[in-house]
Amino acid sequence: MKCRVGAAVDTFHNLVVLVFTDKIIHNTRMSNDKNDNKNADKSAIVQSAQDIEAQAAAEITKAPSSRELYDLKTKYLGKQGSLSLLMRELGKLGSADRPGVGQLFNDIKKRLEVAYAQRENELKASEINAAIARERLDLTLPGPHLDLGAAHPVSIVIREIVEILGRIGYSVRQGPLIETDRNNFTALNIPEDHPSRDLQDTFYIDDRHVLRTHTSPVQVRTMENEKPPRRVLAPGSVFRCDSDASHAPHFHQIEGLLIDRKVSMADLRGTISYFVDEFFGPGLKKRFRPSFFPFTEPSAEVDCSCPICRGNGCRLCKQSGWIEIGGSGLVNPKVLANCGLDPEEWQGFAFGFGIERMAIIKYAIDDIRLFSENDLRFLRQF
Ligand code: DAH
Repeated sequence: MKCRVGAAVDTFHNLVVLVFTDKIIHNTRMSNDKNDNKNADKSAIVQSAQDIEAQAAAEITKAPSSRELYDLKTKYLGKQGSLSLLMRELGKLGSADRPGVGQLFNDIKKRLEVAYAQRENELKASEINAAIARERLDLTLPGPHLDLGAAHPVSIVIREIVEILGRIGYSVRQGPLIETDRNNFTALNIPEDHPSRDLQDTFYIDDRHVLRTHTSPVQVRTMENEKPPRRVLAPGSVFRCDSDASHAPHFHQIEGLLIDRKVSMADLRGTISYFVDEFFGPGLKKRFRPSFFPFTEPSAEVDCSCPICRGNGCRLCKQSGWIEIGGSGLVNPKVLANCGLDPEEWQGFAFGFGIERMAIIKYAIDDIRLFSENDLRFLRQF
């Protein structure tokens, strides 16, 4: 009979493992029958199994690390491990021997697994202890330094004003920094060649565009684009060709505008009074000084008693006891009409505060240039 025989040598125990192909099952049975009489095979297998156990147990108990222990598992108990390879020899034993030797293999496997688990626990414990010792925290070391950012005082003041007036129904609008001449001036009743244009030193972009000199053009945009009644705030940058200790070419304003029916100076005074009490703290006197702005009629400059000296006179208020906080007035009917609102039906009031000025008053700062110099010694105080 033709048969193909492959031979593999178990490197550990020099056992010759014979692998037969499917074609010769019949032949295999014949050779098994022969093996029934071969007790030498059985004792060789038992001996090998015991040798493997002794060697595996010795190596497992001495395994120096989890990694090496795991390699031993593959070496002895894995599918291609020496014990598994040897177990394949069971098939060649006579049927009388097979159960006993099979049982022996199972017992060996169990004992090695127990030894493995035991060594695994020992190694884990010692590896954890070693890691704890190695990675012990030195609590006296300085921690990583985190440089936390903080809001700029201009932003703090804007947020606070928006929050205070937000409580009585105002919401924020924005406009572009490059404005049309018309929105910045003409629609606000500041006609070309009129002396009131000279009140503001303007950066011109071209014949028809300027860097906005105030936040008042957002009034125009609101009245033209939104249906009244409205209460809006427009905080943001403004630009004027001017620079000294109390004037910067770039600074910030916040514009307030209310449009409704039957609006009077009393409404304006009530709103400003509420705002001053909330922003500077209660107890300051308020004063409305007649003034002139082309876009309001009547117009008033808003003063309050100096929050630093509370009216007694100091450097900030130039010993007057009063501080000017901004301009205000009832929206000029010409401006309402320019923006498409019927002045017979709608009225409004408006106000404009300088943000840096509010911060100067609130925090007693003496030079407006500090706001744009980015000196951390200054900024860290807020
Ligand atoms: N826009 C004015 C300025 O920059 C400030 C101002 C005054 C705004 C009166 C107003 C107002 O809304 O009613 O000087």
